[in-house]
Amino acid sequence: MTKLKPPRGTRDLFGVDLARHRYVASVAGEVARTYGFAEIETPVFEAASVFDRSLGETSDVVSKEMYGFKTRDDGELYCLRPENTASVMRAFLSNGMQQSVPARLYYSGPMFRHERPQKGRYRQFYQFGVELVGAASPLADVDVIACGYDILCRLGLEGRVMVKINTLGDGISRLAFRDALVAYFSGHKDKLSEDSRARLRKNPLRILDSKDDGDRALLPNAPTFDDHLNADSQKFFKTVCEGLTRLGIPWQRDDMLVRGLDYYCHTAFEFVTTDLGAQGTVLGGGRYDGLIELLGGPSIPGVGFASGIDRLALLLDHIQPRTDVVALVPVGEASEAFCQPLAHQLRRAGFSIDMAYDGNVGKRMKRANRVGAWASVVIGDDELSASQATVRLMTTGDQHSVAMDQLETFLRASQETGVQ
Ligand code: HAM
Repeated sequence: MTKLKPPRGTRDLFGVDLARHRYVASVAGEVARTYGFAEIETPVFEAASVFDRSLGETSDVVSKEMYGFKTRDDGELYCLRPENTASVMRAFLSNGMQQSVPARLYYSGPMFRHERPQKGRYRQFYQFGVELVGAASPLADVDVIACGYDILCRLGLEGRVMVKINTLGDGISRLAFRDALVAYFSGHKDKLSEDSRARLRKNPLRILDSKDDGDRALLPNAPTFDDHLNADSQKFFKTVCEGLTRLGIPWQRDDMLVRGLDYYCHTAFEFVTTDLGAQGTVLGGGRYDGLIELLGGPSIPGVGFASGIDRLALLLDHIQPRTDVVALVPVGEASEAFCQPLAHQLRRAGFSIDMAYDGNVGKRMKRANRVGAWASVVIGDDELSASQATVRLMTTGDQHSVAMDQLETFLRASQETGVQ
C-alpha cells in the first residue's frame, strides 16, 4: 500500500508543533485584546467574488492560487479563503457593523493558497490578524503596527525582526505614479519578463515587486513613489513614521515595498526576519481605504495586518512548550494497582493525567517528555510504604518528596506559580 500522506503543502499538526501554534495564537490574542480588538470568526469559504473584486485580478493570489469550487445546489463559485481581510470586510457589511465604527476585530485560522510549497510556505497555513475598520487617522496605522510589534516582543522575538514600512499614497498620487511607471517601463518593454509585460497593462506597480532578474535590473532607474506623492500623502506618512519613533518601535523605510495584494493605499508594512531563509516575512499589512467600496459597501477606511502563525512557530522552535499534562509513573505491580484510582481521583480534581499502561520507568519518563508533561509523579514501593510520591518538575528537573495527602495541593500550587 502506498503511504497515506496529507495533501501536498499541508501538514498534520499535533504534539509540540500544534502546541507552538496554539501558543502563538493565544499570545497574539491576549495582546490584541489589550488594544481593544475582539475576536471574529468567519467561514473558511466565501463567494469567490469577495476575493476577485478586492485582492486584484493580477495579484498572484487571485490569478494563480485560489482553491475554487462550484456547489451542487446553486452552482455558485466559492473558494477557500486565501486571506481574511476581504472576508472580515464582507462580515462587517453583512452584519451592519457600520453602526459602531471604529470596529476592532481579530481572528486566527487557516487560509489556503495554491503556492509552491517549501519551508515556511504551505498551501494550508495559519494567520493571526487584526482589522481596525472605520478609522481614517494615521494614528490608527501606528496603533496597528504597535500591536503587531508587541505581539512579536511578547513572543520573545524582539531584535530578531525588522519592521519595514512604505507609503503607497492616496489614489491621486498612485495614479500619477502609475502613469510615470507605464511611461518608463514601456520604453524597456523588450527587457521585461512576460509576467511584467502583462502587469504593465493591468497593474504596473506590481513590477516593483517582481523576482525576475531582468525586471529587477530596470528598477534602479525607475521613477520613485516619493516624487509623485502629493502633500496629503506625505503628511500622512510622516505622521505614521513619527508615531512609531515616539513609541520606540525600530522601523526602516523600504521604498520598494508594494505588498502582493491590490487593496492597499498609504501605509504598507512588513515585519521581516533573516532567520527563515526566503520565507522571512512573518507579518504584513497596511491601510485599505477603498476595500469596502470594492465589495459594494460605503466608503469606510481600514487598516490591519496578518501574521503567519506557521512562520512564527518555526522561529520559536527552541521552545519546548509544556502542556497541562501531569504524567503518573507507577513502578512495580503494587504501584500500578494503586495508581489507577489515584489517576481517577486527580482527573476528577481537574488535573490532566497521562498514564501509560505498561513499560519500565525509563520508557514512561520518555513518554512524559514526549507528551510535554510539566510534571511527573513517580510512585514505587518505597513511596507506597511511606505514603509519598516523588514529583519531578520537568522544566527545572527539580524533585520533591510530597506526602500523598498533599499531592493535589502541591501540584496546584506549582501549576499556579507557573513552574509549568
Ligand atoms: P499577506 O502578506 O498575503 O497579507 O499574508 C500575511 C502573512 O501571512 C505573511 O507575511 C506570511 O507570514 C503569512 N503567509 C502568507 N502566505 C503564506 C503561506 N503560503 N504559507 C505560510 N505563511 C504564509 C494578507 O494576507 C493580508 N490579509 C494582511 C492584512 C490584513 N492586510 C490588512 N489587513
